[in-house]
Amino acid sequence: MSEIEIRRARPEDAPALGRMGATLARLHNRMDSRRFFASPGMEEGYASWLARELASRKAVVLAAVARSRGREQLVGYAYGRLEGRDWNTLRDPCGVGVDLYVAPRARRRGAGRLLLEALVRELGRRGAPQVVIQVAARNGRALAMFEGMGFRRTVVELAIDPAELRTSGAE
Ligand SMILES: CC(C)(COP(=O)(O)OP(=O)(O)OC[C@H]1O[C@@H](n2cnc3c(N)ncnc32)[C@H](O)[C@@H]1OP(=O)(O)O)[C@@H](O)C(=O)NCCC(=O)NCCS
Repeated sequence: MSEIEIRRARPEDAPALGRMGATLARLHNRMDSRRFFASPGMEEGYASWLARELASRKAVVLAAVARSRGREQLVGYAYGRLEGRDWNTLRDPCGVGVDLYVAPRARRRGAGRLLLEALVRELGRRGAPQVVIQVAARNGRALAMFEGMGFRRTVVELAIDPAELRTSGAE
């Protein structure tokens, strides 16, 4: 496979972005199906959402492409957006990294790192004083990559089915 390049995503990328977005969602659903939903038809949903985001000043959608014999193949993407202050989580205005995905055949060749570097740089260029990303607790590989790039841990999310709560016995 050829060199990986990062470029802005384009409207014609939407179907491939949709497939990758749906795959990313299903990966999360497999990690913890009670926390991460997946639903039929996600490909179309992601494709139309990301296509719309391409036109937004607040959103950044980047594509990782591999070129061989003049043909370009989309092998990954990153998506983030600028968000305002959030009082619930005490988070100041920032760039949020929402999606990062590299197709299995293109992994371990630096595409993930290049995508995230470009996303952080572009969100910073558009004024984000910090960039925040969330990662599934069971996604140790991605967490190691993010920490290796300098991200620090901030929040730990916990979830429970109310029926599973270990109570003191008192109503
Ligand atoms: C996480 C992901 C984006 C990494 O993409 P990638 O193109 O393979 O990443 P890179 O080649 O840039 O590797 C970056 C670093 O990640 C780590 N890494 C990536 N894949 C790894 C693997 N299979 N095993 C161990 N470490 C790995 C390494 O530290 C690597 O750096 P190094 O090889 O220089 O030591 C990709 O594995 C992926 O799409 N996974 C499924 C979706 C996902 O988890 N997305 C992130 C959640 S939001």
